Amino acid sequence: MPDETITQQVSERYARAVTTGEQMCCPTGYDFKDLQTFIPEEVLHASYGCGTPAGLTTVQPGETVLDIGSGGGIDCFDAARRIGPTGRVIGVDMTDEMLALARRNAPFVARNLGHPATTVEFRKGHAESLPVEDGVIDLIISNCVINLAPDKPAVFREMYRVIRPGGRFTISDIVADQPVPNYLLHDSQKWGDCLSGALPAREYLDGLVHAGFLGVHQVKFSPWQVIDGIHFFSVTLAGFKLPAAAERKDAFATLVGPFSRVMDEMGHSYRRGVPEPVSARTAELFRTEPFERIFLLSETPIALAATDQRLMTILPANTPCVWKGHYAILTAPFAEAEDDDHHVYRRGSPLEICSKTLDVLESGPYSRHFAILNRSTATVSADAVSCDPDGNCC
Ligand SMILES: C[S@@+](CC[C@H](N)C(=O)[O-])C[C@H]1O[C@@H](n2cnc3c(N)ncnc32)[C@H](O)[C@@H]1O
Repeated sequence: MPDETITQQVSERYARAVTTGEQMCCPTGYDFKDLQTFIPEEVLHASYGCGTPAGLTTVQPGETVLDIGSGGGIDCFDAARRIGPTGRVIGVDMTDEMLALARRNAPFVARNLGHPATTVEFRKGHAESLPVEDGVIDLIISNCVINLAPDKPAVFREMYRVIRPGGRFTISDIVADQPVPNYLLHDSQKWGDCLSGALPAREYLDGLVHAGFLGVHQVKFSPWQVIDGIHFFSVTLAGFKLPAAAERKDAFATLVGPFSRVMDEMGHSYRRGVPEPVSARTAELFRTEPFERIFLLSETPIALAATDQRLMTILPANTPCVWKGHYAILTAPFAEAEDDDHHVYRRGSPLEICSKTLDVLESGPYSRHFAILNRSTATVSADAVSCDPDGNCC
């Protein structure tokens, strides 16, 4: 199907949904009771997202926020509350009916928030060619939209163009654990259902890095649907557009854990306990929240001995393991990472794991870095196996 046909059919689908009051889409997690205090019911009713990118304390007072595919405006209005009267929100959507719903409710939201005028503006446009100037946005949010765009590299390039250096994004979207086959790809109904256009997680994450973003990582993950063995899941991702030059000096970074080795998005490798020289720009990145407990940054090299209390090592229990159909997808801000049992995880690619590794990855320090799926279709009755005489894992 040509891109224009997909876009037109998606737009017609959402125009129909908002006109008929159809409920659509995926797991979100809004606190509707809270939102009802300032957002009109007809906006809440037309919530078609798959996450809460504006509700994740990512939005700061006074910021300029862009919502790509703003729909009825739910996230723009949530962001308006968080930025306060001095900030600005721009919502972009291609569907007239969605824009009309959002625009007619903006004055009510401003009044409910006690703002002298609305701080939210809705513009008509496409995610692939955003009607926004270069480098003016502090934060991009988007909720279940980019999967609907046929040309995702163009969307990622546009995101990078409009964010200011030092800005960031938090986006919720549907991705898959593998490529969507042609019979789904050419099903126009399933495009509108947020299925046909879902990229494999790996392609999505790589696409954002290819556009120039760094520190791309998972904030939230929720399984959604399995169709013909393909797992579709909702993921909220965040990442940064770094300033061209950092103000601080070059530094040293020592990997603390829980991984035993990682390769960053620029291709540099780090082994746990071993200090590596890093540029001022990389050090700036490693000071951001997703890296906080992973690296020790210093002006002079700090090597950590294996017994050092600051290191994090997590080994599996010394028991037999069982294969139960679980797969782990690395969603950490690294291209590749290794655990203490020599499993090598490539970001976005599912790796089959046994029950013991599942326990390790679901434990505190690892859990935020993985999306875990179960691909078994029936109750699994695999025998317990001993992977390794030392109790190490398979
Ligand atoms: C699933 S709805 C989500 C709406 C809103 N973000 C929410 O959470 O309720 C998708 C929205 O994205 C818009 N959309 C889809 N593809 C788009 C594109 N390529 N450019 C601009 N808007 C798009 C649709 O018109 C629709 O309003």
